[in-house]
Amino acid sequence: MTTPSRAPFYITTPIYYVNDVPHLGHAYTTLVADALARFARQLGRPTRFLTGTDEHGQKIEATATARGISPQQHVDDVAPRFAACWDELGIVLDDFIRTTEPRHKKTVAALWQRIAAKGDLYLASYEGWYCVGCEAFYTESQLDRVDDAYVCTTHKKPVTWVAKEPSYFFAMSKYQDALLAHIEAHPNFILPEQYRNEVLSFVRGGLRDLSVSRTSFSWGIPVPGDPAHVIYVWMDALTNYMSALGDIDGEGYKRWWPAQVHLIGKDILRFHAVYWPCFLLAAGLPLPETILTHGWWAVRGEKISKSLPATRVDPLVVGRELGALCGGDQRLGLDALRYYLMREVPLGNDGDFTYESLLDRFNADLANDLGNLVSRSLTMIRKFGVGAANVPATSALAPVVALTKVRAATIEQARLHFERFEMARGLEAIWRYIAEANRFVDATAPWTMAKQNDPALPEVLAHLAISISSIAALIAAVMPRTAGLMAEFVGQGASLLWPAVALPTTVSFADVRDPTPLFPRLDAAKRAATIASLTPAQDAAAPVAIAQEAASAALTRPIAAARTPAAPAVAAASAPITFDEFGKIELRVGRILEAQAVPKAKKLLQLLVDVGEATPRTIVAGIAERYQPSDLPGKQVIVVANLAPATIRGIRSEGMLLAAGDETIAGLGAIDGDAAPGTRVR
Ligand code: MSP
Repeated sequence: MTTPSRAPFYITTPIYYVNDVPHLGHAYTTLVADALARFARQLGRPTRFLTGTDEHGQKIEATATARGISPQQHVDDVAPRFAACWDELGIVLDDFIRTTEPRHKKTVAALWQRIAAKGDLYLASYEGWYCVGCEAFYTESQLDRVDDAYVCTTHKKPVTWVAKEPSYFFAMSKYQDALLAHIEAHPNFILPEQYRNEVLSFVRGGLRDLSVSRTSFSWGIPVPGDPAHVIYVWMDALTNYMSALGDIDGEGYKRWWPAQVHLIGKDILRFHAVYWPCFLLAAGLPLPETILTHGWWAVRGEKISKSLPATRVDPLVVGRELGALCGGDQRLGLDALRYYLMREVPLGNDGDFTYESLLDRFNADLANDLGNLVSRSLTMIRKFGVGAANVPATSALAPVVALTKVRAATIEQARLHFERFEMARGLEAIWRYIAEANRFVDATAPWTMAKQNDPALPEVLAHLAISISSIAALIAAVMPRTAGLMAEFVGQGASLLWPAVALPTTVSFADVRDPTPLFPRLDAAKRAATIASLTPAQDAAAPVAIAQEAASAALTRPIAAARTPAAPAVAAASAPITFDEFGKIELRVGRILEAQAVPKAKKLLQLLVDVGEATPRTIVAGIAERYQPSDLPGKQVIVVANLAPATIRGIRSEGMLLAAGDETIAGLGAIDGDAAPGTRVR
């Protein structure tokens, strides 16, 4: 048995880009961090949990421009949506940092100056491939090659060439050996193991100096003493973990730095496990204890992301829908989602999110195992429990001995798993205890003991009460609402600290309440109805596939497939369609915001089109022989908005424009009048 740590626990999530609104992918990170923070509090550790928003950089500037508002207006609009989402998800935060706050800007400037004072920043010039999605420069060997384009391995979109511009460089290569030594000496610095190995081989491959300022846009924190440059957005963003504590060397910093855990998704491992530690080494500051890396959630094999609307599961919608199954208690619904996310996939692995597997866990683990145990145990205590019962330290009853053993082992094992961030394994251990407690009810059959006036009945009931309160505490970090209700039913108050292995000497039945149902078992019809009601709710905002052929036509001849319905050749050749069939095609007014050539593709242009949604869509159209990119911004177009997305030359195209002409484009379809983007065209 090991003693739990009582040391302070400072945990952070990535700060989320405000070019998007929260989806299940973001929520997963924040929910896992919330569970780890709750667990640390249960152990009595002083705990600090930070999240926030990443508000600077080229990507945010472009999104604001596309919306026709200032970057500040844009970030002020979107950042509160993240805070509100975390609040509705029941996440208990200690702080929410925004990188546009003065406290943050001050610390970023201070960190820059520390690194500059060390002589590790120098002025040179830079050119290279840049992925705006990642906000990162890449060498060709770090990119995929699709046809003639270099494509970002994460975003699957072509990167852009940044022409030579002056830039400050950070002498990262100087820190290669120190970083390697640190990773080798601290096996928990990067977890799980597979990510540690990935970083080790990257660093062993050699670190290059890093471009850490830009001059070609201005939405960022100015370089101290050289305001023509803004500080590279990742250097700015990573510093949030420290700026949220106040001044470097101040009180907050002294109390909480270094952080115990930076929880991140695998997409941003290099920034956290290479760049950030090198900045800190240069500044002479301690490194965080653990960079804890999780995998990606996908829907039907596609990573949940902004660029794929059909993957964007809204955690609040799922919570509400599951809550409706649990007597309208949204917090219980969210507990079911939290349980599923943390149990289904070991932290670090990728997972496929399906409503089927979610509801399977709901039925098997929550309704059958846990819900059943809670309801039958409490019902029996209410029926047969009188006053209080003594709990002998060593029992003469074999089922009690077996249950006590499992309980003690679970308290220890689950703690060790949670301490090592193995949420799924911790939950597995707890569910073995739940199964044992259900077996205990079957083996002791308290209803028969009552009939036979068996004197051991109070002891058996006491062990049932102990099981309920222990399990409540064990699941509290992952399922806080359920744990709170269980503690209330068993009349135990709401302390929910991590349970002690030692048994109490007495158990009172006086405050045990009739339980309300937690997770009802769903029969096949209810399960199917729930899946059906969740599926359209999620896909409502997303393009719906019309037909597979349409997608593949878009791939090869993007614009030819977008002929106006009135094009004579089509009208003559096509079979008539019904009004309902036509109604399946969602046409909307769009406004082109940006246009650029697709490298090495004569006919294609990549467009950014406002169709009245929170973020504009990327659409690849075969109109380059008719239009120059500069002709298009501001142009009104008609967009086929529910066409299944297709990847064209490595670019995800999210819709299609109507245009006249076949091989030769005669013109774009437009509206004779002023209609706002998003207006339906019929
Ligand atoms: N702003 C940067 C992070 C800066 S931290 C100093 C950023 N932001 S982000 O909005 O793109 O969010 C990235 C994080 O969201 C990922 O690292 C991951 O934690 C989470 N996820 C986004 N999509 C995800 C999935 N599909 N699956 C799991 N997590 C995902 O990168």
